Amino acid sequence: MLVKKLKEQVEQYDGQIVTLQGWVRTNRNSKNVSFIELNDGSCFSNLQIVYTPEMEGYAEASKITTGSAIEVEGLVKATPNGKQPLEIEAKRVSVLGMADHDYPLQKKRHSFEFLREIPHVRPRANTYYAIFRVRSVLSMAIHTFFQDRGYVYVHTPEITGNDAEGAGECFTVTTIKNQDYEKDFFAKHAQLTVSGQLHVEPFALTYRNVYTFGPTFRAENSNTTRHASEFWMIEPELAFADLSDNMDVIEEMIKYCINYVLEHAPEEMDFFQRVIDKNCIDRITRVANSDFKRMTYTEAIAELEKAKGSFENNEIYWGMDLQSEHERYICEKVVQGPVFLTDYPKDIKAFYMRENADGKTVAACDLLVPYVGELVGGSQREERYDVLKDKMEKMGMDESTLQWYMDLRRFGGCVHSGFGLGFDRMLMYLSGIQNIRDVQPYPRTPRNLIF
Ligand code: 4AD
Ligand code: MG
Repeated sequence: MLVKKLKEQVEQYDGQIVTLQGWVRTNRNSKNVSFIELNDGSCFSNLQIVYTPEMEGYAEASKITTGSAIEVEGLVKATPNGKQPLEIEAKRVSVLGMADHDYPLQKKRHSFEFLREIPHVRPRANTYYAIFRVRSVLSMAIHTFFQDRGYVYVHTPEITGNDAEGAGECFTVTTIKNQDYEKDFFAKHAQLTVSGQLHVEPFALTYRNVYTFGPTFRAENSNTTRHASEFWMIEPELAFADLSDNMDVIEEMIKYCINYVLEHAPEEMDFFQRVIDKNCIDRITRVANSDFKRMTYTEAIAELEKAKGSFENNEIYWGMDLQSEHERYICEKVVQGPVFLTDYPKDIKAFYMRENADGKTVAACDLLVPYVGELVGGSQREERYDVLKDKMEKMGMDESTLQWYMDLRRFGGCVHSGFGLGFDRMLMYLSGIQNIRDVQPYPRTPRNLIF
């Protein structure tokens, strides 16, 4: 029997004997009556097990340590004293796996820093227990959103021969000890992907609407709370869609995900609201019911100039790459909610973005949200072969590895757009958890690779 099922159908099981397995969160003994808080993994909340000295095996049960795996056989009591919703009056408690006394999760509250050092047990600490289920729920939300709308899910490769963002932040994949890649496993320089976008574009020019959703890797040596070296990204790509269509989909998707998570993980969201971020449910509910603002990069620069002096970096000029403090100022102070910044200077954006008629900007859209900053990066793609080729040449890119990508423009190319949603950042945004290391099961960041 699962605790979740028991709680959902409590009337049906009231007065019956059930058998449960799970892990002990606490075991409190007193003279007449003892309590075990049991969690079996099926839902966020614990189930209270009551036992008394009369129970067979009492002596052994009273010594059960926090963290132990046990099996309980007992009587379901739907409303034992009119208050408590449900408890089990134990007839038998058997130890399946006793936790040693150095089990690291004791009753006191532990710091996130401490818990990051023990990724093998931290899923059992409340915050992680909640967020890792929400990770699963949010994955389903993403798939449901796109599948319901007829998008085809494409598995783009993790090992690639090209740098999709052209930013030089790739990890090399090799089996040799030198850099003689022609003698290497793939007989060329192989890398872990930084984005599935280039590989998904051919499928958009086949199925029209597609998405890829998987891990991406960046050897970006920035030690922030929002950057991980391995993170998951959702990258939809839409044929016959321009930048504005792209933003419509982003907005619809974010709102859908918020509503889905609120509906499918209510206990977890309630926990975040109590313990992590006092108004997180309110905050995201408001977002789900509001229209996202749209603002050009040029307008954003004007706003930042007005606030010059209040930043750490006060060198504000058209053409600058916005830093996190600037992005956060725009969405937290100017807009007070999510905002799309569009039409960035071409020199600070990736080679594949479509150049605007002004010759200076590209059809890019970044979605900035309070707390997190950049949550989504997207653009309309450069569909004109000659313009793309010229740009890649000017940027000194290695065209030999990307001729296939350029050729798509010659083989039935069309206006198309897409974006990348940082999955881990979306979890931060939903929960209010402030560090990306605390929403990933096994975070990888510079100088940090535990297990
Ligand atoms: O803006 P980015 O680099 O865009 C792309 O990779 C495009 N190829 C997407 C596309 O158009 N198909 O990354 C997209 C998002 C960012 O907005 C951010 O949320 C997340 O991915 N992201 C990271 N998340 C965690 N750690 C990092 N190091 C991240 N870098 C980007
Ligand atoms: Mg970006």
